Amino acid sequence: MSYPYQIKTLEDYKKDYNKSISDPESFWTPIAETFTWRKKWDKVLDWNFKDPKISWFSGGKLNITENCIDRHLEKNSNTPAIIWESNDPEEHHRVLTYKELHFKVVQFANVLRNNGAKKGDRICIYMGMIPELAIATLACARIGAIHSVIFGGFSAQAIADRLDDAKAEFIITCDGAFRGTKDIPLKSVIDDALVGNHTVKKVIVCTRTRTPVSMIKGRDVWWEDEIKKVETHGNPDLPAEEMDAEDMLFILYTSGSTGKPKGVVHTTAGYMIWTNYTFVNVFQYQPGQVHFCTADIGWITGHSYIIYGPLSAGATALMFEGLPTSPDAGRFWDIVEKYKVNILYTAPTAIRSLMAYGNDYINGKDLSSLKVLGSVGEPINEEAWNWYNVNIGKEKCPIVDTWWQTETGGVMISNLANVTPAKPSFATLPLPGILPCLMDENGSEIEGNNVNGNLCIKMPWPGIIRTTYGDHERCKQTYFSAYENKYFTGDGCMRDSEGNYRITGRVDDVLNVSGHRIGTAEVENAINMHAGVIESAVVGYPHDIKGQAIYAYVIYDGSHGDSNLSKQDIIQTVSRIIGPIAKPDKIQFVPGLPKTRSGKIMRRILRKIAEGDVTNLGDTSTLIDPALIELILEGKL
Ligand code: WTA
Repeated sequence: MSYPYQIKTLEDYKKDYNKSISDPESFWTPIAETFTWRKKWDKVLDWNFKDPKISWFSGGKLNITENCIDRHLEKNSNTPAIIWESNDPEEHHRVLTYKELHFKVVQFANVLRNNGAKKGDRICIYMGMIPELAIATLACARIGAIHSVIFGGFSAQAIADRLDDAKAEFIITCDGAFRGTKDIPLKSVIDDALVGNHTVKKVIVCTRTRTPVSMIKGRDVWWEDEIKKVETHGNPDLPAEEMDAEDMLFILYTSGSTGKPKGVVHTTAGYMIWTNYTFVNVFQYQPGQVHFCTADIGWITGHSYIIYGPLSAGATALMFEGLPTSPDAGRFWDIVEKYKVNILYTAPTAIRSLMAYGNDYINGKDLSSLKVLGSVGEPINEEAWNWYNVNIGKEKCPIVDTWWQTETGGVMISNLANVTPAKPSFATLPLPGILPCLMDENGSEIEGNNVNGNLCIKMPWPGIIRTTYGDHERCKQTYFSAYENKYFTGDGCMRDSEGNYRITGRVDDVLNVSGHRIGTAEVENAINMHAGVIESAVVGYPHDIKGQAIYAYVIYDGSHGDSNLSKQDIIQTVSRIIGPIAKPDKIQFVPGLPKTRSGKIMRRILRKIAEGDVTNLGDTSTLIDPALIELILEGKL
C-alpha cells in the first residue's frame, strides 16, 4: 500500500494543515477517494455544533471491513495482519495474514448470522486479548451490527448497566482470560451481569482458559461448535453488509462527570478515514513495519490503533495478551526483540512502572528495530519522557506524544514522527483538520501565546463523536454546550510561545488513573452502596506510577466495628460495582464533608488536602462548618 496523503516534511505539514482548515471539503476528498466505496458520497461535510449534527461523506456506501481486509487481498494477502503474543511466553505465538483474517472474519460473521444477528443489532464483546477478540469485532462490522467492547476488568454490575443502556441482544465472551498469573472468569461475570437482563438473546463463548463454565440451554453456545457448523457448509462467502457512511460502527462506554457512563458513538466512514489518516501520519508507518500498541482493545486506543487504523492501512499489528511486568519487567523488550517491532505505542503509566524496575530488564535486549515511540492516555512527565527516549529509543527514535480521547476517535494533537519537532511533555501541534482554541471561564477565547485555558475544538474532523447512545441531549450538554459552537474536551491546556500545546489534565470531575478514565461520581455511587456509608466524596491525588490515584473521604456509620475491615469492605464494594480499576487507594473516614450553604461539596479543598497542599486552602468562608476542615486535616492519611 502507498499512502499519498502521508506528510513527509514540515513544509508539507504546514501546507496540509492550512488547506484542511480553510477548505476541509477539498482537503478530505482525495484522501477519501483512496478508500473502497460501494457508492461515492454526495456531500463531504455537513455540520452544526448547536444540535449537534455532524455528517461526513453522507450518501456514501461502504463496509469498513472491505477497507480493513478485502482491499489488501489482491497484493498483500500473505502480509501478517495480526501477530498475537500470548500471556505465557512459552505458548506459541499466532500470526494471521490478511488472507487468514479474511477467512476467519467471514467465518465468524456467518456464525453471527446463523445466531440471528443482523445490521443494527448491538453486540457486546467481553473477551481477553486473543485474536478472536479482533475477529469478533470485525465480524460485527462485516454484518453491520454495532459492537460495544467492554474492557475485561469491568465487573458484572458495570456490564449490566452497559448492556441495559445499549439494549444489547448478543454477547461474545470467553470462558476466561489470562492476565499475568491471574485467570479471570469472564463467562461467570457475564452470567452475573445477565441476572435480570431481558434483551440478550444469545451468548457466544470462546474457549481460552478452560475454566469450568455453566452453559444455559437455548442462550449460551460455544464459539468452536458454531464454527464447526459453518465449516460443514463450506464457510459460505459472506458479502459485507452495505453501510451508509454515517451508520453506527460502534458504541464505547466511557466515564464522565456524572455517575452513569456514556456510550460514545462513532460512525463508519469518518472514523475509518480518521484512524487511518492519523495512524499513517503520526507514526509515519511504512509498509512492512510491525506496529505494537500495548493497549487493550476494550479501550479506544485498542479500537483505533490495533484494529481499524493499522488494518485499514494494510499494516501489521501486534496484539499482546499479557501484562508489561509478567513474568518480569522485561516483557515488552522481549517482545520488541522477538518480532523486531518498529513502532511501540504505550502509556506513561507503563513507562513509569517499568522505569521503577531499573535497567537490568533492558540490558542485553536488542531494541535496534525500533524506529518510533508513542505515548498516550495521560500527560507524560519529563522524567518518564527522558527515560523512554534514552533507554528505549536510544535517542534515535522520535517520541510522539499523542493527545486524544474516546470521543475524538483518533489522535488530535501530536508531533509527527521525524516530520514535526517533539518537545518533552508537550503534545505539540494539531493534526490537519483540527482547529484547537483555549477558552476562559467566561466563555471568551484566549488569544496569543504563553496562555492557559480550557481546550476546545472549533470545527469538526472526520472522527468526532456523533452522539451518546440513546441520549443525544447528553452529548449536546456534555460537549457542545459549555462553549457556544465549540467541542469542549474537558481538558485544561497551555499554549507556549511557539504555539505548542501542553495538556495539563482534566478540568472536570474525571480522574485519569493509570491512563484509565474514571468518574469521581461513579466511584462515589459505588462507595455509597456499602451499607455503613452515609456519604462520600472522591478526588484524585498525584501518584508516581499511576499518574493519579483515588482518595475517598467517607462518612461512615462506625457501629459496624473495626475501621480497617470496614475500609477493606468498601474497597471490595467498589470492585464489585465497577471493577478493580476503580478501587480507592486511600479511604479516610471523616465526621462530615465540607459543603457550601447551597449544599455543594467543596472538592477543591478536599483535593488540596489529598494532595498534601494544605498551606493555602483558599477561601473557606462560604463553608457551613469551617471547623470541619481542621478535623479532616487531623485525620489525613
Ligand atoms: C488524557 C485515551 C495528556 C486527557 C486516548 C484526555 C492525555 C483523556 C493524553 C482521554 C496525552 C490522553 N497527554 N493527556 N498525550 N492522551 N490524555 O478517552 O485527559 O481514555 O481527555 O482516551 O486522557 O482518555 P480516553
